[in-house]
Amino acid sequence: MNAQHSPLAGRPPAASDPTPAELIAARPGLAMHAMDGLTFADVPLNAIADAVGTPTWVYAAPIMRARFRQLAAALAAAGLDASIHYAVKANDHLAVLDLFAREGAGADVVSEGELRRALHAGIPAARIVFSGVGKSAREMRLALAEGVGQINVESAEELAMLSAAAAAEGRTARVALRVNPDVDAATHAKITTGRAGDKFGIPHDQAVALYRHAAGLPGIRPVGLATHIGSQILTMAPYRAAFARLAALVAALREAGETVEVVDCGGGLGVAYRDEAEGSPAALAGAIAGALGSLRTRIAVEPGRWLVAPAGVLLASVVLVKAAGNTSFVVLDAAMNDLVRPAMYEAWHGIVPVSAAALAAEPGPADVVGPVCETGDTFARGRLLPPLARNARVAILDAGAYGAVMSSTYNARPLAAQVMIDGGRFAVIRERQDHAALWAGERVPAATG
Ligand code: LLP
Repeated sequence: MNAQHSPLAGRPPAASDPTPAELIAARPGLAMHAMDGLTFADVPLNAIADAVGTPTWVYAAPIMRARFRQLAAALAAAGLDASIHYAVKANDHLAVLDLFAREGAGADVVSEGELRRALHAGIPAARIVFSGVGKSAREMRLALAEGVGQINVESAEELAMLSAAAAAEGRTARVALRVNPDVDAATHAKITTGRAGDKFGIPHDQAVALYRHAAGLPGIRPVGLATHIGSQILTMAPYRAAFARLAALVAALREAGETVEVVDCGGGLGVAYRDEAEGSPAALAGAIAGALGSLRTRIAVEPGRWLVAPAGVLLASVVLVKAAGNTSFVVLDAAMNDLVRPAMYEAWHGIVPVSAAALAAEPGPADVVGPVCETGDTFARGRLLPPLARNARVAILDAGAYGAVMSSTYNARPLAAQVMIDGGRFAVIRERQDHAALWAGERVPAATG
């Protein structure tokens, strides 16, 4: 295998990759200016790096807003009575949650922390969906006390726990049963969730019986069905198959005399990282309407990535360039502890120089890596890039989803700063973590020996 056949890329890279110029052209928020270099939502990334340093996450509020509105418009145009519950896990920064709260979004949360974040950002409890395969009794009690609008239950065992918690507190849980439709979303194995052997949801052939059982349980009011078949989904066929399963279940439930108010279609719509056609909100809305529209239920969706991925970049600087035969290692000050997606999912992220002069230079293959002591700390292998010198800056694209939220402090590397651009200005929305904060909660017991 030659060095250019990257196990990180999934298919032969380099020549078939979009060039940095093509990546910029394909993203409306990015532009290259002769003097200012790369701008994002009209702000030069150099200005941000000068002020805040690197590595830094940069989010563009106008892009998040525009995408939310595009999705809402597509759902409405398909004639659906739909609510959007932003999947907080994709980017849980309070400023991002605040932005979507102002747009009227609800939230999809999967932990006490996400629930508290969403409430703190002003998302009304009634618009929050609590998902997840392992909600603790404590999390259930909190959700009930706050009046969370919908709790997605994934098993008979969880249903029993929730019934006990609700009955003990004298409350009623509005429950949707998350159905595992046994559909392969044809995405990365680690993020496909709707196949029969996956840990998620209730097998579809048990859903009707469990729903009827739920209706008789104290503290439980079944209000609908939910599904989520995976993430980074680019074709509609798996969605259609899953929604058809749900439609059949709604019909069977109604025939059995049950009430079904809502169908939660989950998240998963994919974005263009490389040269894919991004998932289309209109196509998704059409798939939902085609399968479920005539049933006249409310529709919920739980998108994360599609709303925020292209609205973020990870800004980094070159620490040094290490020559290595006919390639070179471009070592950045960002690493796998910041953006783990390439190491974890073999994800391909565009990498573009911030300087206009660099963009114009003749490209050659480079391995773009971080300084962490693992070979997996590789952002790109055999990537065609213009020569990048020490201190040159690059933007790693489409890092607004599953970026900062998945960061760690591995190698005792402080969490990077976060910046949000709005109205042509930027604001620091999270300070770079201080080194002392790395060990702030640690205690060294007195030596006993
Ligand atoms: N709803 C549920 C129940 C979910 O589990 C997820 C994502 C979503 C909604 C939102 O899915 P989205 O629209 O963002 O595809 N860390 C991985 C992605 C993990 C997705 C987990 N669940 C990555 O970086 O690709």
